[in-house]
Parts: sequence; C-alpha cells; structure tokens
Amino acid sequence: MKVLALNSSPRAQDQSKTELMLSHLVRGMTEAGAQVEIVHLREKKINVCCGCFTCWTKTPGVCIHKDDMRAELFDKYRAAELVVYASPLYHYMVNATMKAFIERTLPMIQPFFVPEGDRLVHPVRYPIPKAVMLSVAGFHEEEIFGPLSTWAKYLFGERLVAEIYRPGAESIGASRHGRHRDERILAATVQAGRELIATGRISVATLQGVKEQSVKDLKTWSTVGNLMWQTCIAEGVTPKIFKERGLVPRPDSIDSFMLMMAIAFNAKAAGDTQACIQFAFTGEKTGECYFDIANGAIQGHLGCAEHPSMRIEAPFELWMDILTGKADGQKLFMEQKYTVTGDFDLLMRFDQLFG
Ligand SMILES: Cc1cc2nc3c(=O)[nH]c(=O)nc-3n(C[C@H](O)[C@H](O)[C@H](O)COP(=O)(O)O)c2cc1C
Repeated sequence: MKVLALNSSPRAQDQSKTELMLSHLVRGMTEAGAQVEIVHLREKKINVCCGCFTCWTKTPGVCIHKDDMRAELFDKYRAAELVVYASPLYHYMVNATMKAFIERTLPMIQPFFVPEGDRLVHPVRYPIPKAVMLSVAGFHEEEIFGPLSTWAKYLFGERLVAEIYRPGAESIGASRHGRHRDERILAATVQAGRELIATGRISVATLQGVKEQSVKDLKTWSTVGNLMWQTCIAEGVTPKIFKERGLVPRPDSIDSFMLMMAIAFNAKAAGDTQACIQFAFTGEKTGECYFDIANGAIQGHLGCAEHPSMRIEAPFELWMDILTGKADGQKLFMEQKYTVTGDFDLLMRFDQLFG
C-alpha cells in the first residue's frame, strides 16, 4: 500500500509529539509492508485557498497557486492510497498548516451537487485516498478530541479508516517516572501501524494502549505544570529552553515544595534509608514541614516531627534557589545562610536522594 504521512507540527523533531507518534505509526506500517513517505509540512510552502474556484472552472483540477502544493504535494496526494493526517490539536482542531493542506485538495472534487445518502455532496474528480486522522494534545481528557473526531467523520465519511488520538502528549518523555508507560504507548502506536496495513483497521485494545492515561492525578499534574510555566515566565525562557537547560519547576509554597520533593525522591538511591528530615522555613513563606523516608518511600507532612534525624532551618526563597540549582548549597552553608542540625550525612546525600 502506498501511504502519504503528513506531519503538520511546526515544532522540530526533538520537540514534536505529533512527529514522535507519527514516526512510530509509520514504523509499524513499514514493518507490515507499506510504502510510506513522510512529508513535514513545516518545510513546505502551502498558500491558503483563495476561494477563486479557478480549479473548478478555468483550469479544471489545477489550482491557481504556484507553490509546493502545486509543484509536488498534490501529485503525491493523488498517488497515495492512504493519507495519514498527523496534526497537533490547536484550539480543539487540526492546526492551520494542516487545514491549509486539506483546503488545497479542492481540485480533487467537482463543483456539482449530487445526492449521497441523505445529503448533497460534490462528485469526485480523481479517486480520493483513504484517511487516518492522528492528533496529539496537551490536555489529558479524551473528550478534547470530540470536535475534531466529529469533523473528520463528516469530512472523510467512509474513507476514514482510523482515528488515533493521544491526550496528555506533552507528558511523554517528560519524566523518568513515566519511562515504562511511554514505552508502552509508543509500542502500541507501532502496533497500530502494523494492524492498519495488515487488516485495514486498528483494534480497540491497541487504541486503548495508544491513549493509556499518562497521569494518575490531574491535581498534581496541574500544580507541577503551573510551577513549570511560572518558572518559564520568571526566567524568560520557553519550555524548550527550560528543558534544554535542565531547569526545575520552582515551588512557590510549602505545599508545592512538599510535592516537588516527593516527585524528586529517588527510591532506588534511598534503598533502606530510614530518616526523618525536618524543614523550618523563615522569610516570606514561614512554616514547618517534614519528610519520613522508609522502605524506599517518602511521606511529607506539615508541622514538626517528634524526633527528626536532621533539621534544616532556612529562608524559604533561599532554599528554593538551592533546590532549583540557582544557588550553591555548600557555599551558602559555609556562609551560614542556613543551618543544619542532626545527621549531617543526610545533607551530603541530598543530591542522590532528590536528584
Ligand atoms: C496554538 C496552540 C493551540 C493549542 N490548543 C490546544 C487545545 O485546544 N487543546 C489541547 O489539549 N492542547 C492544545 N495545545 C497544546 C498542543 O496540542 C500540544 O502542545 C502538542 O503536543 C503539540 O504538538 P507537537 O508537539 O507535535 O507540536 C495547543 C498548542 C498551541 C501552540
């Protein structure tokens, strides 16, 4: 089968989740024997349809624009048996680049009105390839793809052979905790490609694997997400630079500090460590909290522990500077900007325990 796989994400390969999902789908399709060509629409010049209907009247089947759609893409589209439309979800729809491509397929149909079932349609000029809609989104709820799915079904009708939707796509590759889940999602996407070519459909079980939930707790996810955006704004960096620089979402309260400590906790490094770490914060965010570490798990509590193994007293913002790598903890300790009492070894192991 001859497949044209269109990727309309404007983001480069190392950042685009559309491209990540599409490349795995294509791997499966190719393994199953399909001949697939991937086109990154961001590299192409595609003018928007100007609505002149020249392609319906003056030059039937040929668009007036002289761009990459005319020069190469329209012919590739006509030659394909199956087209994968892979787009990031923008404002609950395909993005403008993909929409421009789809609008420019107008020469595929003729201007007349003919009945089909209970509606009128335009007759085709050239055979139209089957369609697969693939989209990825930032939000985690499946329903966000509802409007796109309704549109795709209406637009492609019986030619639509599969819809592949990945909510919470930005979570893929975002944390070491989700590594195994990410591998399962991508393996299911490869499997979807294989099934598509072998059977013309994707099984419910495989689609379920593609959209496996990536966060168990939306409250935690949104708190960490908000801290990440706040940090981007404070540092004046985009999410791409945030990731490249290995920045850490900066807690803005004792509650969010406790959450970040739990996320950063490295159970493997903790091993059989048994400890209780007390924090007493001063300054703008005054308050106390402590962490019990036992059996490779961490439990955070507000308030004072009865017998902490170590007690750290520090101005809240100063400790957040240390936590986010903006300040040197050892240097500040020597300068007595914060104090530590109790098991000093624990402090030495902080980078391991909360790497
Ligand atoms: C302009 C714009 C609009 C977006 N609209 C939505 C949206 O409606 N719903 C959603 O869940 N995510 C939305 N997102 C998030 C993207 O779908 C998400 O970041 C996705 O991973 C982008 O795909 P890419 O990584 O292939 O570029 C939007 C992002 C941008 C830049």
